[in-house]
Amino acid sequence: MDSIAYSVAFFSAVFFFLLLHKKSAFKRRLLPPGPSGWPIFGNMFQLGDMPHRTLYHLKDQYGPVIWLRIGLINTMAILTAKAATEFFKDHDLDFADRTIRNNMRVHDYSNGSLALAPYGSFWRVMRRLVTVEMISARSINETAFIRRRCMDDLLAWIDKEARTEQNAKNAIHVSHFVFMMTFNVLGNLMLSRNLFDPDSDEGSEFYTAMNGLMESTGHRNIVDVFPWLAWLDPQGLRRKMERDMGKALEIASGFVKERMKEGYGDQVEGDKRKDFLNVLLEFRGNRNEEILEISEKEINIFILEIFMAGGETTSSTIEWALTELLCNPQVMGKAKAELAQVVGSKRNVEESDIENLPYLQAVIKETMRLHPPIPLLVPRRAIQDTQFMGYDIPKDTQVFVNAWAIGRDPDVWEDPISYKPERFLGSKIDYKGQHCELIPFGAGRRMCAGVPLAHRSLNFILGSVLHRFDWELDPAVTPETLDRDDVLGVTMRKRVPLLAVPKLI
Ligand code: HEM
Repeated sequence: MDSIAYSVAFFSAVFFFLLLHKKSAFKRRLLPPGPSGWPIFGNMFQLGDMPHRTLYHLKDQYGPVIWLRIGLINTMAILTAKAATEFFKDHDLDFADRTIRNNMRVHDYSNGSLALAPYGSFWRVMRRLVTVEMISARSINETAFIRRRCMDDLLAWIDKEARTEQNAKNAIHVSHFVFMMTFNVLGNLMLSRNLFDPDSDEGSEFYTAMNGLMESTGHRNIVDVFPWLAWLDPQGLRRKMERDMGKALEIASGFVKERMKEGYGDQVEGDKRKDFLNVLLEFRGNRNEEILEISEKEINIFILEIFMAGGETTSSTIEWALTELLCNPQVMGKAKAELAQVVGSKRNVEESDIENLPYLQAVIKETMRLHPPIPLLVPRRAIQDTQFMGYDIPKDTQVFVNAWAIGRDPDVWEDPISYKPERFLGSKIDYKGQHCELIPFGAGRRMCAGVPLAHRSLNFILGSVLHRFDWELDPAVTPETLDRDDVLGVTMRKRVPLLAVPKLI
């Protein structure tokens, strides 16, 4: 009996020793420094509505890598170019998954999404289709005529405003016009149709549904922080998202069904290229080894994803570029002088001019350095326990790479707060993922899949509207009184939309 009691006591002691040892091993895990948070809520309230700004200021106190707890979510924030270089160059694979917000699960969206897909075969196949077949250098050249046509529409819309309002000096909401144009570019690349057409109910219906969807996507949801509240949907966001996404998916599904009925040869007579929908349907027809099939639902989701990824990001960048130019008249003067010299007064800007317009390209880079449309990038997630810069980062940690703070990092940018496109002239620094001091499109495996298209579109749009019109600020404001704050929704936009007056030249 005694021996049984001794055995029980001995094994209990061993058990508690192991338990304690495990606990202290857990405690010894070295996490990055960071502000202490509240019980349960963690650092949620400290981050506020502008987390990119808050984190940028926390760097002075805690250094380049910060640890936070947002409700239940372990979060690491990366705030300098040096830390970002280490992250993307040496640990890209360790953090190649995404965190998925609760709203993005409605209608199984996240299961068909490329941007949110776990790092694996679905992501690999979809990404290859986008980068090799849809947005390769060759396909971008073949689709220049689409952007030309949509640009002519944009110039005509602005021209009309400039003529009718010339005497009244009325300003226009610039990003709204650019958004409509971008929407049509994406509609033609994806589906071979104009989706913003005042004469087509169907097209405009999709435009309205997508606007509603992006509005709902931009809201912060308490359920992401406290998942057990999901059943309550306290802000009603899930219901709204279900409605808006349901509508957009239904219309997209109509487009797909129609195409499947018609067959998928040339969409427009003489247009030999394959639009994105053709690429997907053909891929679906040819069974392959990696994934057997892309479902019809995944195709519908892909359509929505392209509009969400490429629409507002482009229009808000152009809005910030024009804002900076209007507040820095000498930069505006140089950009227009370069256009006058390279393009001349007798014709419009063409995409083929871009490579001869280094100052224009520098204006776009400088705008994206200070105003990256997705300031914390699309959050990554640790695939496994990982050592990063001497810290022990647990599996599933969410990672914010703060492109906004990195664009202001004083160790790599001289006079970081000033708007000076000249800093890029003669510099090799680009936003294509090789230079971590400038990462508006991210870097590494999960970098933006649309960079070649975005680069073309941004330079083409800004160059065209600058060359064709003179621009003035809304007479009610001056560069000193102009509201330059930002607001974070799907993208980081100007809080007060830019109103500018186009003048016929
Ligand atoms: C100004 C324009 C744009 C900006 C600033 C932008 C920015 C970004 C950023 C920051 C990411 C996340 C990168 C990361 O996690 O490292 C991303 C991902 C992505 N973008 Fe873009 N984007 C733009 C335009 C586009 C366009 C035009 C398309 C397609 C037509 C596109 C398609 C995608 C896709 C599919 C992903 C997900 C990539 C993945 O997870 O593998 N983007 N974008």
